[in-house]
Amino acid sequence: MAASEATTPLSPLLEVANLQKSFPVRRGLLGRPTATLKAVAGVSLQVFPGEIVGLVGESGSGKTTTGRCLLRLVEPSAGSIKFDGVDLMGLSARELRRFRRRMQIIFQDPYDSINERMTIGDLVGEALVIHGLAKGTARRDRILELLQQVGLRSEFADRYPHTLSGGQRQRVGIARALAAGPQFLVADEPVSALDLSVQAQILNLLLDIRDRLDVGMLFISHDLSVVRFIADRVLVMYLGKIVESAPAAALYERAAHPYTQALLSAAPLVGEGQSRQRIRLLGDLPSPVDPPSGCVFRTRCPKAIAECSAIEPPMRPVGPNHFAACIHLAAS
Ligand SMILES: Nc1ncnc2c1ncn2[C@@H]1O[C@H](COP(=O)(O)OP(=O)(O)OP(=O)(O)O)[C@@H](O)[C@H]1O
Ligand code: SF4
Ligand SMILES: [Mg+2]
Repeated sequence: MAASEATTPLSPLLEVANLQKSFPVRRGLLGRPTATLKAVAGVSLQVFPGEIVGLVGESGSGKTTTGRCLLRLVEPSAGSIKFDGVDLMGLSARELRRFRRRMQIIFQDPYDSINERMTIGDLVGEALVIHGLAKGTARRDRILELLQQVGLRSEFADRYPHTLSGGQRQRVGIARALAAGPQFLVADEPVSALDLSVQAQILNLLLDIRDRLDVGMLFISHDLSVVRFIADRVLVMYLGKIVESAPAAALYERAAHPYTQALLSAAPLVGEGQSRQRIRLLGDLPSPVDPPSGCVFRTRCPKAIAECSAIEPPMRPVGPNHFAACIHLAAS
Protein backbone atom coordinates (compact mmCIF):
# COMPACT_ATOMS: atom_id res chain seq x y z
CA MET A 1 0.00 0.00 0.00
CA ALA A 2 1.29 3.48 -0.81
CA ALA A 3 2.21 5.63 2.18
CA SER A 4 -0.30 8.23 1.03
CA GLU A 5 -3.09 5.67 1.52
CA ALA A 6 -1.97 4.67 5.00
CA THR A 7 -4.32 5.39 7.88
CA THR A 8 -1.66 5.41 10.60
CA PRO A 9 1.48 7.53 10.54
CA LEU A 10 4.53 5.49 9.57
CA SER A 11 8.19 5.94 10.38
CA PRO A 12 10.37 6.68 7.36
CA LEU A 13 12.15 3.66 5.91
CA LEU A 14 14.94 5.91 4.74
CA GLU A 15 15.86 9.24 6.26
CA VAL A 16 18.67 11.25 4.70
CA ALA A 17 20.00 14.51 6.14
CA ASN A 18 22.44 16.92 4.51
CA LEU A 19 23.98 14.33 2.19
CA GLN A 20 27.06 15.57 0.36
CA LYS A 21 29.37 14.09 -2.23
CA SER A 22 32.38 15.87 -3.68
CA PHE A 23 34.74 14.54 -6.32
CA PRO A 24 38.29 15.80 -6.70
CA VAL A 25 38.96 17.39 -10.09
CA ARG A 26 42.47 16.58 -11.39
CA ARG A 27 44.48 17.95 -14.22
CA GLY A 28 45.41 14.81 -16.15
CA LEU A 29 44.81 11.26 -14.98
CA LEU A 30 47.37 11.23 -12.18
CA GLY A 31 47.63 14.94 -11.47
CA ARG A 32 46.99 16.46 -8.05
CA PRO A 33 43.43 17.61 -7.35
CA THR A 34 43.06 21.22 -8.45
CA ALA A 35 39.41 21.74 -7.53
CA THR A 36 36.35 20.04 -6.03
CA LEU A 37 33.18 19.11 -7.86
CA LYS A 38 30.15 19.13 -5.55
CA ALA A 39 27.86 16.58 -7.17
CA VAL A 40 25.54 16.39 -4.14
CA ALA A 41 25.46 19.54 -2.05
CA GLY A 42 23.31 18.92 1.04
CA VAL A 43 20.38 16.70 0.13
CA SER A 44 17.76 15.77 2.72
CA LEU A 45 14.93 13.39 1.94
CA GLN A 46 12.67 10.71 3.36
CA VAL A 47 11.16 7.61 1.81
CA PHE A 48 8.34 5.79 3.58
CA PRO A 49 7.56 2.07 3.24
CA GLY A 50 5.61 1.48 0.04
CA GLU A 51 6.24 5.02 -1.19
CA ILE A 52 7.66 5.86 -4.60
CA VAL A 53 9.64 9.11 -4.47
CA GLY A 54 10.57 10.55 -7.86
CA LEU A 55 13.87 12.41 -8.26
CA VAL A 56 13.96 14.64 -11.34
CA GLY A 57 16.45 17.10 -12.78
CA GLU A 58 18.63 17.77 -15.78
CA SER A 59 21.62 15.69 -16.76
CA GLY A 60 24.47 16.33 -14.35
CA SER A 61 22.27 17.60 -11.49
CA GLY A 62 23.44 14.78 -9.18
CA LYS A 63 20.59 12.27 -9.28
CA THR A 64 22.66 9.15 -9.86
CA THR A 65 25.30 10.19 -7.33
CA THR A 66 22.55 10.74 -4.75
CA GLY A 67 21.00 7.32 -5.46
CA ARG A 68 24.34 5.54 -5.25
CA CYS A 69 25.31 7.35 -2.05
CA LEU A 70 22.12 6.12 -0.41
CA LEU A 71 23.26 2.54 -0.88
CA ARG A 72 26.88 3.50 -0.16
CA LEU A 73 27.86 2.26 -3.61
CA VAL A 74 29.49 5.68 -3.76
CA GLU A 75 30.96 6.79 -0.43
CA PRO A 76 29.27 10.03 0.73
CA SER A 77 31.52 12.92 1.79
CA ALA A 78 29.18 13.97 4.60
CA GLY A 79 25.65 13.65 5.91
CA SER A 80 23.57 10.97 7.59
CA ILE A 81 21.62 8.09 6.06
CA LYS A 82 19.25 6.24 8.36
CA PHE A 83 17.72 3.05 7.06
CA ASP A 84 15.01 1.50 9.23
CA GLY A 85 16.35 3.60 12.11
CA VAL A 86 20.01 2.49 11.70
CA ASP A 87 22.70 5.00 10.71
CA LEU A 88 24.36 3.46 7.65
CA MET A 89 27.26 5.90 7.80
CA GLY A 90 28.38 4.38 11.08
CA LEU A 91 28.47 0.78 9.81
CA SER A 92 31.61 -1.19 9.03
CA ALA A 93 31.94 -2.83 5.61
CA ARG A 94 30.89 -6.13 7.18
CA GLU A 95 27.82 -4.71 8.90
CA LEU A 96 26.91 -2.88 5.71
CA ARG A 97 26.83 -6.16 3.81
CA ARG A 98 23.84 -7.29 5.89
CA PHE A 99 22.01 -4.12 4.89
CA ARG A 100 22.83 -4.51 1.21
CA ARG A 101 20.28 -7.30 1.04
CA ARG A 102 17.61 -4.87 2.07
CA MET A 103 18.53 -2.09 -0.37
CA GLN A 104 18.98 -2.73 -4.06
CA ILE A 105 19.43 -0.79 -7.29
CA ILE A 106 17.83 -1.14 -10.72
CA PHE A 107 19.98 0.32 -13.51
CA GLN A 108 19.09 1.96 -16.81
CA ASP A 109 21.00 -0.78 -18.59
CA PRO A 110 20.71 -3.90 -16.47
CA TYR A 111 23.39 -5.60 -18.57
CA ASP A 112 26.12 -3.11 -17.88
CA SER A 113 27.69 -5.20 -15.18
CA ILE A 114 26.68 -8.79 -15.89
CA ASN A 115 28.31 -11.83 -17.36
CA GLU A 116 26.58 -12.46 -20.70
CA ARG A 117 27.60 -16.12 -20.51
CA MET A 118 25.44 -16.80 -17.45
CA THR A 119 21.87 -18.06 -17.91
CA ILE A 120 18.99 -15.82 -16.87
CA GLY A 121 18.31 -18.24 -14.01
CA ASP A 122 21.88 -17.92 -12.70
CA LEU A 123 21.79 -14.14 -13.09
CA VAL A 124 18.53 -13.86 -11.16
CA GLY A 125 19.84 -16.25 -8.49
CA GLU A 126 23.21 -14.53 -8.09
CA ALA A 127 22.13 -12.54 -5.03
CA LEU A 128 20.80 -15.73 -3.42
CA VAL A 129 24.29 -17.21 -3.73
CA ILE A 130 26.08 -14.05 -2.56
CA HIS A 131 23.90 -13.72 0.53
CA GLY A 132 23.63 -17.49 1.13
CA LEU A 133 19.84 -17.32 0.99
CA ALA A 134 18.81 -20.52 -0.80
CA LYS A 135 20.43 -23.67 -2.15
CA GLY A 136 19.55 -26.51 -4.53
CA THR A 137 15.87 -26.89 -5.33
CA ALA A 138 14.92 -24.05 -2.96
CA ARG A 139 17.11 -21.72 -5.03
CA ARG A 140 15.61 -22.97 -8.27
CA ASP A 141 12.09 -22.51 -6.87
CA ARG A 142 12.90 -18.97 -5.75
CA ILE A 143 14.35 -18.11 -9.17
CA LEU A 144 11.16 -19.34 -10.87
CA GLU A 145 9.07 -17.34 -8.38
CA LEU A 146 11.11 -14.21 -9.14
CA LEU A 147 10.74 -14.71 -12.90
CA GLN A 148 7.00 -15.07 -12.41
CA GLN A 149 6.92 -11.89 -10.28
CA VAL A 150 8.44 -9.91 -13.14
CA GLY A 151 6.22 -11.49 -15.80
CA LEU A 152 8.71 -13.90 -17.39
CA ARG A 153 7.82 -17.54 -18.07
CA SER A 154 9.88 -20.22 -16.31
CA GLU A 155 11.62 -21.30 -19.53
CA PHE A 156 13.49 -17.98 -19.48
CA ALA A 157 15.63 -19.45 -16.67
CA ASP A 158 17.65 -21.47 -19.19
CA ARG A 159 18.04 -18.73 -21.79
CA TYR A 160 20.98 -16.38 -22.28
CA PRO A 161 20.86 -12.58 -22.03
CA HIS A 162 21.55 -11.85 -25.71
CA THR A 163 18.29 -13.59 -26.74
CA LEU A 164 16.11 -11.10 -24.79
CA SER A 165 14.40 -7.86 -25.86
CA GLY A 166 15.08 -4.57 -24.03
CA GLY A 167 11.93 -4.89 -21.93
CA GLN A 168 12.70 -8.50 -21.02
CA ARG A 169 16.24 -7.50 -20.06
CA GLN A 170 14.89 -4.86 -17.70
CA ARG A 171 12.52 -7.46 -16.20
CA VAL A 172 15.60 -9.58 -15.49
CA GLY A 173 17.29 -6.53 -13.93
CA ILE A 174 14.27 -6.07 -11.67
CA ALA A 175 14.18 -9.77 -10.75
CA ARG A 176 17.87 -9.56 -9.81
CA ALA A 177 17.17 -6.57 -7.59
CA LEU A 178 14.25 -8.36 -5.92
CA ALA A 179 16.08 -11.64 -5.31
CA ALA A 180 17.35 -10.86 -1.83
CA GLY A 181 13.98 -9.47 -0.68
CA PRO A 182 14.76 -5.74 -0.46
CA GLN A 183 12.64 -3.17 1.40
CA PHE A 184 14.08 -0.28 -0.58
CA LEU A 185 14.97 0.14 -4.25
CA VAL A 186 16.81 2.84 -6.12
CA ALA A 187 15.57 2.74 -9.73
CA ASP A 188 17.97 4.85 -11.81
CA GLU A 189 16.36 5.78 -15.14
CA PRO A 190 14.98 2.22 -15.43
CA VAL A 191 12.88 2.92 -18.55
CA SER A 192 14.92 5.62 -20.30
CA ALA A 193 16.46 3.20 -22.80
CA LEU A 194 13.13 1.53 -23.68
CA ASP A 195 10.49 2.13 -26.36
CA LEU A 196 7.45 4.07 -25.19
CA SER A 197 5.06 1.08 -25.17
CA VAL A 198 7.56 -1.01 -23.22
CA GLN A 199 8.15 1.86 -20.78
CA ALA A 200 4.51 1.69 -19.67
CA GLN A 201 4.74 -2.06 -19.08
CA ILE A 202 7.84 -1.73 -16.92
CA LEU A 203 6.37 1.19 -14.96
CA ASN A 204 3.24 -0.85 -14.31
CA LEU A 205 5.42 -3.75 -13.18
CA LEU A 206 7.22 -1.48 -10.69
CA LEU A 207 3.88 -0.19 -9.37
CA ASP A 208 2.66 -3.77 -9.03
CA ILE A 209 5.84 -4.74 -7.13
CA ARG A 210 5.40 -1.78 -4.80
CA ASP A 211 1.83 -2.81 -4.09
CA ARG A 212 2.63 -6.47 -3.53
CA LEU A 213 5.92 -6.18 -1.65
CA ASP A 214 5.44 -2.76 0.00
CA VAL A 215 8.95 -1.65 -0.98
CA GLY A 216 9.95 2.00 -0.81
CA MET A 217 11.56 3.35 -3.96
CA LEU A 218 13.63 6.29 -5.12
CA PHE A 219 12.75 6.58 -8.79
CA ILE A 220 15.29 8.65 -10.73
CA SER A 221 14.38 10.12 -14.10
CA HIS A 222 14.88 13.19 -16.27
CA ASP A 223 11.42 12.56 -17.78
CA LEU A 224 8.63 14.39 -15.97
CA SER A 225 5.90 12.34 -17.69
CA VAL A 226 7.40 9.11 -16.43
CA VAL A 227 7.74 10.44 -12.90
CA ARG A 228 4.19 11.75 -12.93
CA PHE A 229 2.97 8.29 -13.89
CA ILE A 230 4.73 6.44 -11.09
CA ALA A 231 5.66 8.70 -8.17
CA ASP A 232 3.69 9.50 -5.01
CA ARG A 233 6.01 12.38 -4.19
CA VAL A 234 8.54 14.23 -6.33
CA LEU A 235 11.87 15.88 -5.52
CA VAL A 236 13.30 18.36 -8.00
CA MET A 237 17.09 18.53 -8.07
CA TYR A 238 19.25 21.34 -9.43
CA LEU A 239 23.04 21.48 -9.22
CA GLY A 240 23.29 19.08 -6.30
CA LYS A 241 20.40 20.51 -4.30
CA ILE A 242 16.73 19.71 -3.84
CA VAL A 243 14.84 22.89 -4.75
CA GLU A 244 11.27 21.59 -4.49
CA SER A 245 9.55 18.63 -2.82
CA ALA A 246 5.83 17.95 -3.22
CA PRO A 247 3.14 15.29 -3.53
CA ALA A 248 3.07 14.43 -7.26
CA ALA A 249 -0.35 15.97 -7.94
CA ALA A 250 0.59 19.26 -6.25
CA LEU A 251 3.89 19.50 -8.09
CA TYR A 252 2.32 19.11 -11.51
CA GLU A 253 -0.61 21.42 -10.73
CA ARG A 254 1.02 24.07 -8.53
CA ALA A 255 4.80 24.03 -9.02
CA ALA A 256 6.21 26.70 -6.70
CA HIS A 257 9.88 26.93 -7.69
CA PRO A 258 10.82 28.83 -10.87
CA TYR A 259 13.05 25.92 -11.94
CA THR A 260 10.22 23.40 -11.64
CA GLN A 261 7.93 25.79 -13.48
CA ALA A 262 10.51 26.07 -16.26
CA LEU A 263 10.93 22.30 -16.46
CA LEU A 264 7.19 21.78 -16.71
CA SER A 265 6.72 24.42 -19.38
CA ALA A 266 9.67 23.14 -21.39
CA ALA A 267 8.49 19.55 -21.28
CA PRO A 268 4.68 19.53 -21.69
CA LEU A 269 3.13 16.43 -20.21
CA VAL A 270 1.57 14.70 -23.16
CA GLY A 271 -0.91 11.84 -23.12
CA GLU A 272 0.00 8.20 -23.58
CA GLY A 273 0.87 7.19 -27.11
CA GLN A 274 2.25 10.58 -28.12
CA SER A 275 5.91 11.42 -28.30
CA ARG A 276 7.45 12.98 -25.20
CA GLN A 277 9.66 16.02 -25.39
CA ARG A 278 12.98 16.21 -23.61
CA ILE A 279 13.59 18.82 -20.95
CA ARG A 280 14.94 22.00 -22.49
CA LEU A 281 15.99 25.10 -20.60
CA LEU A 282 17.81 28.13 -21.95
CA GLY A 283 21.52 28.03 -21.20
CA ASP A 284 23.49 25.24 -19.63
CA LEU A 285 23.68 23.94 -16.12
CA PRO A 286 26.53 25.87 -14.41
CA SER A 287 29.59 23.84 -13.47
CA PRO A 288 29.28 22.09 -10.09
CA VAL A 289 32.99 22.92 -9.66
CA ASP A 290 32.12 26.59 -9.37
CA PRO A 291 28.41 26.87 -8.51
CA PRO A 292 26.70 30.30 -8.36
CA SER A 293 26.65 32.03 -4.97
CA GLY A 294 23.31 32.38 -3.21
CA CYS A 295 20.56 30.55 -5.06
CA VAL A 296 22.12 27.97 -7.41
CA PHE A 297 19.41 28.61 -10.05
CA ARG A 298 19.95 32.37 -10.26
CA THR A 299 22.01 32.38 -13.50
CA ARG A 300 19.03 30.93 -15.42
CA CYS A 301 16.10 32.13 -13.33
CA PRO A 302 13.56 34.47 -14.99
CA LYS A 303 12.52 35.76 -11.53
CA ALA A 304 15.99 36.43 -10.13
CA ILE A 305 16.57 39.66 -8.19
CA ALA A 306 19.79 41.15 -6.79
CA GLU A 307 19.40 39.44 -3.40
CA CYS A 308 19.42 36.00 -5.02
CA SER A 309 23.20 36.12 -5.39
CA ALA A 310 23.69 36.79 -1.67
CA ILE A 311 21.10 34.59 0.02
CA GLU A 312 20.74 30.84 -0.29
CA PRO A 313 16.98 30.39 0.17
CA PRO A 314 15.96 27.62 2.58
CA MET A 315 13.14 25.15 1.87
CA ARG A 316 9.85 26.74 2.96
CA PRO A 317 6.43 25.16 3.29
CA VAL A 318 4.14 26.29 0.46
CA GLY A 319 1.32 23.77 0.90
CA PRO A 320 0.55 20.44 2.59
CA ASN A 321 3.75 18.39 2.47
CA HIS A 322 4.96 20.80 -0.23
CA PHE A 323 8.26 22.72 0.13
CA ALA A 324 10.30 24.94 -2.16
CA ALA A 325 13.47 27.03 -1.89
CA CYS A 326 13.00 30.48 -3.44
CA ILE A 327 13.43 33.97 -2.02
CA HIS A 328 10.01 35.04 -3.31
CA LEU A 329 8.32 32.27 -1.36
CA ALA A 330 10.25 33.25 1.76
CA ALA A 331 8.98 36.80 1.42
CA SER A 332 5.29 35.89 1.08
N1 LIG B 1 33.05 9.43 -10.33
C1 LIG B 1 32.96 10.73 -10.63
N2 LIG B 1 34.05 11.51 -10.68
C2 LIG B 1 33.97 12.83 -10.96
N3 LIG B 1 32.82 13.47 -11.21
C3 LIG B 1 31.68 12.75 -11.19
C4 LIG B 1 31.69 11.34 -10.89
N4 LIG B 1 30.40 10.89 -10.96
C5 LIG B 1 29.64 11.95 -11.26
N5 LIG B 1 30.40 13.06 -11.39
C6 LIG B 1 29.92 14.42 -11.70
O1 LIG B 1 28.92 14.72 -10.73
C7 LIG B 1 27.87 15.48 -11.33
C8 LIG B 1 26.55 14.76 -11.11
O2 LIG B 1 26.57 13.57 -11.87
P1 LIG B 1 25.37 12.52 -11.82
O3 LIG B 1 25.76 11.37 -12.69
O4 LIG B 1 25.04 12.22 -10.41
O5 LIG B 1 24.18 13.34 -12.48
P2 LIG B 1 22.77 12.85 -13.01
O6 LIG B 1 21.76 13.83 -12.50
O7 LIG B 1 22.55 11.42 -12.67
O8 LIG B 1 22.91 13.03 -14.59
P3 LIG B 1 22.26 12.15 -15.79
O9 LIG B 1 20.84 12.62 -15.92
O10 LIG B 1 23.11 12.51 -16.97
O11 LIG B 1 22.37 10.70 -15.42
C9 LIG B 1 28.25 15.66 -12.79
O12 LIG B 1 28.87 16.91 -12.94
C10 LIG B 1 29.21 14.52 -13.04
O13 LIG B 1 30.13 14.85 -14.07
S1 SF4 C 1 15.78 32.57 -5.12
FE1 SF4 C 1 15.95 34.01 -6.84
S2 SF4 C 1 17.17 32.95 -8.37
FE2 SF4 C 1 16.47 31.42 -6.89
S3 SF4 C 1 14.61 30.59 -7.76
FE3 SF4 C 1 13.98 32.26 -6.42
S4 SF4 C 1 13.90 34.08 -7.72
FE4 SF4 C 1 15.03 32.53 -8.85
MG1 LIG D 1 22.22 9.70 -13.81
